[in-house]
Amino acid sequence: MSASQETDSKQSDAKHQIEQVITIFEQVAQGYDNPAMRFFPFCGDRIALHLQLKRGEKVLDIAAGTGAATVAAAQLTAPEGRVQAIDLAENMLDKAYVNLQRAGLSNADFHVMDALQLDFKSNYFDAVICSFGLFFLPDMLAALKEWKRVLKPGGRLIFTSFTAKAFQPLADLFRQDIIQNGVDWPEAKWQLLSTEDECRELLQQAGFTDFQFLTEQLGYHLNEAEDWWEVIMNSGFRGMINQLKPDQLESFQQQHLEHVRPLKNDKGVWMDVETLFSSARCPT
Ligand SMILES: C[S@@+](CC[C@H](N)C(=O)[O-])C[C@H]1O[C@@H](n2cnc3c(N)ncnc32)[C@H](O)[C@@H]1O
Repeated sequence: MSASQETDSKQSDAKHQIEQVITIFEQVAQGYDNPAMRFFPFCGDRIALHLQLKRGEKVLDIAAGTGAATVAAAQLTAPEGRVQAIDLAENMLDKAYVNLQRAGLSNADFHVMDALQLDFKSNYFDAVICSFGLFFLPDMLAALKEWKRVLKPGGRLIFTSFTAKAFQPLADLFRQDIIQNGVDWPEAKWQLLSTEDECRELLQQAGFTDFQFLTEQLGYHLNEAEDWWEVIMNSGFRGMINQLKPDQLESFQQQHLEHVRPLKNDKGVWMDVETLFSSARCPT
């Protein structure tokens, strides 16, 4: 393969990857704010606090989804401050807009925009946030460089990712069961950036400084195994489910939940959501 063919093939893989992610999130937007997935708003609050956002600041929330971090950032920066929230899945942003209004806030704008190609001027934002979004991007380093471009010198960045413990043992059970049903399990994007070392290296390469890493447990007990099914159907796991034939779905659900039920104790089914918060600054 010639160098230009290789570039074309990489570009078409990246395009395909983005399209797949968008299809999934357009599909799950309606059920994304499910109580079983309340770790997203928990995380949004933690992000806003860790960044120590202040009234009047200009914030960019990348891969904002239904706005968990957008709302938290809008709350802390109001009334003069403003949050620009971007995502490629329009349905997710529609929900984010409703969530902002429900919170009684109006200081955020929503844009359908690619995290790799920001339509914002350079040196503009005080802070850039990305909650559980960076690992979905086909070129994470290029994304971080682009985010650095729009940050003011000294501006703060924070992104979150899942550690290797997150969703275990539930995720491994799901993986085993779905593979048994003939579904491919490619490299799981959400398992990227699971260590400090990976995140540090990426931040270093992108030219950020003042790294800080913090691991927090955002998990909780789900009441029933069925709540885990809600997580699967309303999150990125849905991509795997979409590969089942329609007539396999019901029997897969039954089979998988049979394997999950023994994990339930008197508190419920533990869903681990160990989260790594990586933060850094744009050099001054
Ligand atoms: C796991 S969700 C996280 C949403 C939100 N930040 C939260 O914490 O609840 C990942 C989001 O990344 C978005 N996304 C994926 N690739 C993207 C891209 N290239 N540009 C912008 N958003 C993207 C998806 O549409 C989805 O809404």
